[in-house]
Amino acid sequence: MMALTILIVDDEPLMRLSIVDALEAVGHDVCAAATGTEGIEEARRREYDLVITDLRLPGADGLAVLKAAKEARAQTEVVVITAHGSVETAVGAMKLGAFDYITKPFKMDELLLIVERAGTVVALRKENQDLKEILEDKFSFGGILGSNTKMRAVLDKIKTVAATDSTVLILGESGTGKELAANAVHQNSPRRDYPLIKVSCAALPESLLEAELFGHEKGAFTGALRQRRGRFEMANRGTLFLDEIGEISPVVQVKLLRVLQERKFERVGSNQTIDVDVRLVCATQKDLRKEVAAGRFREDLFYRLNVVQVVIPPLRARQEDISIIADHVLQTCSTKMNKKLRGFSQPARELLIRYSYPGNVRELENMVERAVALGRDREPIQPSDLCGFQACPYQGGEPQESCGFCNEGLTGKPKKKELSLTALSTAREAFEKEYILSVFERVEGSRTTASKILGLSRKALWEKCKRYGIPSARDEGEEE
Ligand SMILES: Nc1ncnc2c1ncn2[C@@H]1O[C@H](COP(=O)(O)OP(=O)(O)OP(=O)(O)O)[C@@H](O)[C@H]1O
Ligand SMILES: [Mg+2]
Repeated sequence: MMALTILIVDDEPLMRLSIVDALEAVGHDVCAAATGTEGIEEARRREYDLVITDLRLPGADGLAVLKAAKEARAQTEVVVITAHGSVETAVGAMKLGAFDYITKPFKMDELLLIVERAGTVVALRKENQDLKEILEDKFSFGGILGSNTKMRAVLDKIKTVAATDSTVLILGESGTGKELAANAVHQNSPRRDYPLIKVSCAALPESLLEAELFGHEKGAFTGALRQRRGRFEMANRGTLFLDEIGEISPVVQVKLLRVLQERKFERVGSNQTIDVDVRLVCATQKDLRKEVAAGRFREDLFYRLNVVQVVIPPLRARQEDISIIADHVLQTCSTKMNKKLRGFSQPARELLIRYSYPGNVRELENMVERAVALGRDREPIQPSDLCGFQACPYQGGEPQESCGFCNEGLTGKPKKKELSLTALSTAREAFEKEYILSVFERVEGSRTTASKILGLSRKALWEKCKRYGIPSARDEGEEE
């Protein structure tokens, strides 16, 4: 059994000493306090695994010690000692989160047994915590979860490139986590104590984007009422994240190229040159090479941006990650909405894994968030909580226009063939029937030819047709 750090709070010196002795004898690390106030102070001072407190104490009582200990550290277990005949107070203590109570007078062995049980709980919790930390560390970097091999490689690349000053180009479909990756690059770089400035290049028209990036002088254009620093200046010594870089106009492309080449620029309407020390991270859903080929994106700029390329695969290409991300979202949303759900039911989990997520991780997040909102406390999440439509075909109903799962079915995107689980004999029969029908079709219904191909006597074939309800086929000059 693991050694615990234990605090004893009791005003009777003899009782206190004998408990301390007994617990130290079995290897625990024990401290003692003689009053409630002292006990509370001590519980706040150090992280105790277990607090054993008498309920009746001079000054603050045992319940106050219990509350303070739990407040200081929620994982601390508390055992209360109660006088014979005041079991009601003990019940109150249990309601406040005490682990157990023991009634005076008691044998030391009884107390040791309770301490041993508390020790098991503490040890289990520690083990769980360690495991969780290992898992989180193993399958996450900068808040990006992923156990898929390709995703692990992406995370390794981000980790490596973060330490450098290289320009990074992040590519991936909508909702795959490009912004998350950009954050991870900055937060793990030597620039992390300086700003990370974000600009969405698609959100602004050309002229405004230019002023936004480089700043402007007072009166540089209509509406420029005063001088303004641009995002490049704000990001000095830090990182500038240009999102949707595929959307920038040729004019802005030229200006951007110059900053990348010379690390210098001027505010709009000024001829004073400004030097900046900025690390650039860009992202786009577009295929930039195609844009270059089509003459919409400057090739020289593309090469300047494409120093290190990080390609984030779509979620459907990394099914292993679905469960991990779903569990994580379930946990954070449950805490936020104060819900106590029992995870995902097996059918719900299967549905999640099978879906193709055109909106990638963002879509998965929204789906789980809605499921948490709809799910019932102390029950696992059901498929109906996920798609939000009781009658969806995944639950044996009609397709629903506005259901993501169903829409996928309606638009006929590739999906694994539905296999209902039945006995092998049933499956074999179903296949046999299908196969015989397809052979008949190929030989245009000639039973003689079909029986030759199938390697069956004509009689055996006839019997099978009868059994499977295959209509009698054309037969060359023979009686049926
Ligand atoms: N691997 C992941 N682990 C955990 N959460 C993720 C992961 N990838 C994305 N997310 C979450 O999914 C959501 C979408 O991610 P993000 O905004 O980074 O995507 P994006 O690629 O920038 O999308 P868009 O192209 O639409 O701007 C965010 O809430 C983000 O936290
Ligand atoms: Mg984004």
